[in-house]
Amino acid sequence: MSNRTQPTVLVVDDEAELRGMVAESLANDGFVAAQAATAAEAIERVKAFAYDAIVIDLRLPDADGMEVLDAALDRYPDVVALMMTGFGGVADAVSAIKRGAVDFLIKPFQLSQLSRVIGAGLEQRRLRQENAELRAQLRDRYRFDSVIGQSAPMQQVFATLELVAPMNSTVLIHGETGTGKELIARTIHHNSPRADQRFVAFNAAAIPEPLAEAELFGHAKGAFTGAVSARVGRFELAHRGTLFIDEVALMPMALQAKLLRALQEREIERVGESRPIKFDARIVAATNTDLRKLVKEGAFREDLYYRLNVIPITLPPLRDRREDIPLLARHFVQKSCRNNNVPPRVLTQEAVRLLMNYSWPGNIRQLENAIEHAVAMTGAEKEIPVTAFPEDVVRPASSSFFPAVAIPDEGINFTSVVSQLERELILKCLEKTGGNKRQAARLLNLSRTTLIDKLHRLNLADQETAAS
Ligand SMILES: Nc1ncnc2c1ncn2[C@@H]1O[C@H](COP(=O)(O)OP(=O)(O)OP(=O)(O)O)[C@@H](O)[C@H]1O
Ligand SMILES: [Mg+2]
Repeated sequence: MSNRTQPTVLVVDDEAELRGMVAESLANDGFVAAQAATAAEAIERVKAFAYDAIVIDLRLPDADGMEVLDAALDRYPDVVALMMTGFGGVADAVSAIKRGAVDFLIKPFQLSQLSRVIGAGLEQRRLRQENAELRAQLRDRYRFDSVIGQSAPMQQVFATLELVAPMNSTVLIHGETGTGKELIARTIHHNSPRADQRFVAFNAAAIPEPLAEAELFGHAKGAFTGAVSARVGRFELAHRGTLFIDEVALMPMALQAKLLRALQEREIERVGESRPIKFDARIVAATNTDLRKLVKEGAFREDLYYRLNVIPITLPPLRDRREDIPLLARHFVQKSCRNNNVPPRVLTQEAVRLLMNYSWPGNIRQLENAIEHAVAMTGAEKEIPVTAFPEDVVRPASSSFFPAVAIPDEGINFTSVVSQLERELILKCLEKTGGNKRQAARLLNLSRTTLIDKLHRLNLADQETAAS
């Protein structure tokens, strides 16, 4: 046995003969034994060296053995401490155990017993430490347990999360609709030192332009018509917590400028007030459009882009990580069965193949909804069959994107069918943006002038009076 792996023991007793015998016996059993004759000497040694174990006589000439015990445990809560006492000292020995000693021996005792007790104590300590380590590992592994994914791109996301979640750095999450942007934003918050404070979400697209500023920064009483009382904005609500700015690409230019100023100064002003308010919120932003492209087109401030894009996280679309589909599907089946109080169901292999073959334009949200649908349609069966899934998943040929057009025997008017499709797509986007043409054009990846041109051509020009 090398010296490095031999456990070290300090033997504390004023009776030189007994002390020497104990030390020698321990040395024979593979320990490195040191000795101390008084409490003062023992405490000096404990300060200077981290012994694995310490054997203490309860009655010492200069102080109680208990003091040595406390001094040792104070410094090394894991030290294996053993008390020695005569018959009269049993009560004291018991109270020593309450204070953290592992055991006591009543003099006279067998020397071999001493080695056994110390050995058992060291083994127990090792197991305890191992358990603590295992628990810590489990905690680490399951910290992101609500986010599922084993594919390489998701592993990359986890690695980034691990590094940046505990920091204050601004994160920009990029991903198609339904890829989990909000889930990742929340996960970042819950794994940060800010987890006990608020996670506040602000959706730049959901709130009409004039109200968005007041929503974000708050306003004073009477700041504008309808502002009957003062209001705290999202920035202030998120103080010491996390502010999630969703769909940041759709933020109007004027608001972009104000957001940039807030992020630079780390302070805001409520609308209608000129008193700066300091805030301390971690910013996480999300977008499903390529912000760099918008910057090039002049639709997004470049300086704001750099402010936000400190730590970029890209969530891959589901079709680019098909190996995650079975995991996600099983997860959602369990979740759905639990939420609906139905017995656990399983997916047939055929159903799993179907799910893996589909393109999932709506990504994980669409998958979750499809599973919810399938669980509901499965009835009392244990297995979820292919036929339980929504029509557009089962038969993607009659794709949901292009409405099924019946072709009559006399044929169709190609131009008018195409115009009809154009018309519906445009109206759909205008509806989504609350009539905002600039945003609708962006959704269609058309220039604003092309969109206006089409509105005229399709006799939708009256749409032009709507907010633009
Ligand atoms: N990796 C994942 N593991 C488990 N569930 C996920 C995962 N990613 C997303 N989800 C679930 O999918 C749904 C959609 O996710 P989320 O709302 O975060 O997407 P999003 O990117 O914000 O979508 P949108 O762009 O439409 O706002 C949520 O119910 C979310 O819990
Ligand atoms: Mg979202």
